Amino acid sequence: MTKRTRLLVANWKMNGDAELVSTMTDSLSAVLGNDAISSQVDVVLCAPNTLLGRFTEHRDFSLGGQNVSQYEKGAYTGETSASQLEAVACEYALVGHSERRHVFGETDALIANKFATAAASNLIPVLCIGESLEEREQGETEQALQRQLNAVIKVTDEKHWEKAVIGYEPVWAIGTGKTATPEIAQSAHKFIRDYLATQSQTASIASSVKVLYGGSMKPENAAKLMDQPDIDGGLIGGASLSPDSFVAIINAAANF
Ligand code: PGA
Repeated sequence: MTKRTRLLVANWKMNGDAELVSTMTDSLSAVLGNDAISSQVDVVLCAPNTLLGRFTEHRDFSLGGQNVSQYEKGAYTGETSASQLEAVACEYALVGHSERRHVFGETDALIANKFATAAASNLIPVLCIGESLEEREQGETEQALQRQLNAVIKVTDEKHWEKAVIGYEPVWAIGTGKTATPEIAQSAHKFIRDYLATQSQTASIASSVKVLYGGSMKPENAAKLMDQPDIDGGLIGGASLSPDSFVAIINAAANF
């Protein structure tokens, strides 16, 4: 079986300030300064755009944007391009987070274009997918995941999938305190990987692509979730705003 190193992506959403940048940087430096931990787990911090430039240049973790435009440049008020994220040292960008889909009405097609643009830049796109509560209750989880993946597969070249990361985030678990059980999450992750294996553009990356779980991951449930064979890490919202909680999740990911 392919060995995949673990990846934790913190999503601060519209939270945080200069003080959190500084306390989080100190806490992450302390934990990731330990080679036994940093050799097991990579950490990415997706802070609000206005805070990204405040992180020190030398860090033991990477930075990411929470969203990225499908356009390269031009008259698109309020948007941020892939190259602008790169200019503030971002290496990653979230694409299609459920709040972008459900609060801001981003469609599968728009998200697919954002993914294709980000994947063609130097950024690593983290494609977020997940079913709503209604879809789960109606037994349509797999169709929902397949629909969201298909939109992206349609517009993205095989070579651009190589560096992609996928975040499985059941919408009913995000920010609700309701975590998917490790078994529920594992079955969705396995479905995603198996489905990618059936598509010509993604078959070659199906076993190596990192699939992260997101939705109320916290220190108490992180280890059990990441023990599942197809869960390669986490996408962490609320618990990434507290240095203690986030460090505890990093320790769980590194098996300490
Ligand atoms: P949560 O958020 O950990 O607060 O549930 C996860 C996410 O939205 O990425």
